[in-house]
Order: sequence, then C-alpha cells, then structure tokens
Amino acid sequence: MKARCWHGVRDVRVERVPDPGILNPGDAIVRITSTAICGSDLHLYNGVVPGMMHGDILGHEFMGEIVEIGASVKRLKVGQRVVVPFPIACGQCFFCEQKLFSVCENSNPNAYLAEKMWGHATAGIFGYSHLTGGYAGGQAEYARVPFADVGPLVVPGELPDDKALFLSDVLPTGYMAAEACDIVPGAVVAVWGCGPVGQFAIQSAYLLGAERVIAIDHYADRLDMARTVSHAETLNVDEVDIVDALRAMTGGRGPDACIDAVGMEAHGAGVAYAYDRVKQAMRLESDRPTALREALLSCRNGGVVSVPGV
Ligand SMILES: NC(=O)c1ccc[n+]([C@@H]2O[C@H](COP(=O)([O-])OP(=O)(O)OC[C@H]3O[C@@H](n4cnc5c(N)ncnc54)[C@H](O)[C@@H]3O)[C@@H](O)[C@H]2O)c1
Ligand SMILES: [Zn+2]
Ligand SMILES: [Zn+2]
Repeated sequence: MKARCWHGVRDVRVERVPDPGILNPGDAIVRITSTAICGSDLHLYNGVVPGMMHGDILGHEFMGEIVEIGASVKRLKVGQRVVVPFPIACGQCFFCEQKLFSVCENSNPNAYLAEKMWGHATAGIFGYSHLTGGYAGGQAEYARVPFADVGPLVVPGELPDDKALFLSDVLPTGYMAAEACDIVPGAVVAVWGCGPVGQFAIQSAYLLGAERVIAIDHYADRLDMARTVSHAETLNVDEVDIVDALRAMTGGRGPDACIDAVGMEAHGAGVAYAYDRVKQAMRLESDRPTALREALLSCRNGGVVSVPGV
C-alpha cells in the first residue's frame, strides 16, 4: 500500500510499504477513505516530539471501511464504515473502566519511556511516535486498529465522510476543552488558537452556555472564521497585548475560563518568546508556551485554565 512516512525534520514522503495484517484476535483492518492532518502532526513534522523513527507512518485522524476482523471482534462487521478515535484503548483497565480512554494502561507498550519523558504515559496513539507505542498511522491506504471493539464509532451509511471525520480527534478535543471549563450561563471564555481544535472549542463553549467567547490567533482568515461561523469576538496577537486586552474586555477581572488550543509551538514576540525559542532549539525545554503563559496570566481569580494544546 501507499503511506505517508516520516523521515526527519520537515521530511515526510509518500512511499510503498507492506500492507497491515491482523496481529491479534481483537484487531480490525480498515481501508481508509478519509484522513486529516492535525496540528499535532506539525509537532512531529517540525521535530519537537521525540521518539520518531525513519519510516514511521503518520496520521491519527482517519475513517474508512472495515475489510477484515480478528477472531474475537464481536461489535464490528466487515463492510461497516467507522471513524477511528486517535487513542487506542483496551476497554478493560483501571482507566478504561472510568472512560479515561486516552490514558489506557494496556495499549502503550512503551509507557516506560513516556514516563521517563513526561512523568506519566498516554495510551497508545496511532502514528504518534514510539513514546505512544509506535503504532502505524492512518495517512495510508489501510491501517490496523487494535482493540477494535472499543474505540471505533460506526458511521451510518448516508453520512458523508466529512461530516464524521472530525470525531476522530478535533471535535471531541475541542468539546472536552470547553467541558473542562465548568461553564455557567454568562461566562466569558477566551480561546487561544483558531485552528480546528480552537474552532470546535469556541463552538462548544457557546453550546455549553458561555455568553461571550473571545478567540485569539494571528491568522486573519482563522479569526474571520471564528467571527463569522461562531460569532466569537476576536483578538489578533500581532496587534494587541493579549493579557491587557482581555482584562480591558472583562471589567479588569479576566475571563472566567481560558483555553490553550495552541500548544508547544506557539508564535510570539519579545524577550520571553526569544528565550523560549532558544531553549526549545537547544532542547533545554520541550515547549514554547507563549499561549499557556498568557492564559495563566489572564484568567480571573478562581477561574479555569483548560489545556488541550500539546
Ligand atoms: N489534547 C489532544 O488530544 C489534542 C488533540 C488535537 C490537537 N491537539 C493540540 O491542540 C493544538 C491545536 O491543534 P490544531 O489542530 O487546532 O492546530 P493548528 O496548528 O491548526 O492551530 C494552532 C493555531 O494557534 C495559533 N497560534 C500560534 N501561536 C499563537 C499565540 N501565541 N496566540 C494565539 N494563537 C496562536 C496558530 O496561528 C494556529 O492558527 C496543537 O497543540 C495540537 O497538538 C491536542
Ligand atoms: Zn490530532
Ligand atoms: Zn485500557
């Protein structure tokens, strides 16, 4: 099959690789019909997430048709269309029983490495470095989906792919970011980053009862989308001091909740940004946390800072 493979910093190639096969009785093989590129893939592309190896197949946002199932798969059938969530979950461990699927303790065989790096490990994740298990991803013609009875969502036949694909990651990620804010009617929520995760966080914040959502980015088209599609107020990081502007817009108090949907490769300016940039390049820190720092400085006393950004 053809797949998109990682070969180093800013070096990814479409290559011929062996087709995946069933390895465990709980596996399914999915023929991929749609896949997406995540902001998280940019962190791999730019080489700021460790644990990538030559030839790793990228992609953790994908959907398609089941073409083969292992002997113990009960819930899924060949021919069904599924969206595959990016974390791989066993469905039976301490965390899965609490529905904390993204920290399943059975699906990441390299958890011990992730613990050294991050303190705690995540679940296995498709196409996301050997620290999350080294699983082949879904920017490919086929993918092997372990524990297939647990994660994949069956898609009704008539729903087009582009109405379902975002359930693989960016919609639930944005929704959960807003849900974690404990939004009450009248709340003001600020969202850093107007990529897909930020856009869904903005819509989810309104859905959960926010009165005002203030969207922050530096791309005019993304700010336009936040304004026109979701009716958010917007701030451009290139034009104003964000902490001052948010304070001014909230009667001096700060937003009730702040969502960092930017993550470790935030853009910025000034001394703090230069300091982060140098430390990240020298591998003295893994992140450039400009947005996170602004979120912490802006949030009102007793408010919530929610961090979906990697
Ligand atoms: N927790 C999860 O499960 C999960 C899932 C998906 C994505 N993510 C992470 O969420 C983040 C956003 O994902 P995405 O797909 O929307 O990415 P994206 O790259 O499309 O969007 C990020 C946006 O942040 C903006 N930005 C950069 N610096 C900024 C700053 N200082 N202030 C305000 N905005 C700034 C960029 O201009 C860009 O529009 C990434 O870090 C990604 O890795 C996490
Ligand atoms: Zn993603
Ligand atoms: Zn589990």
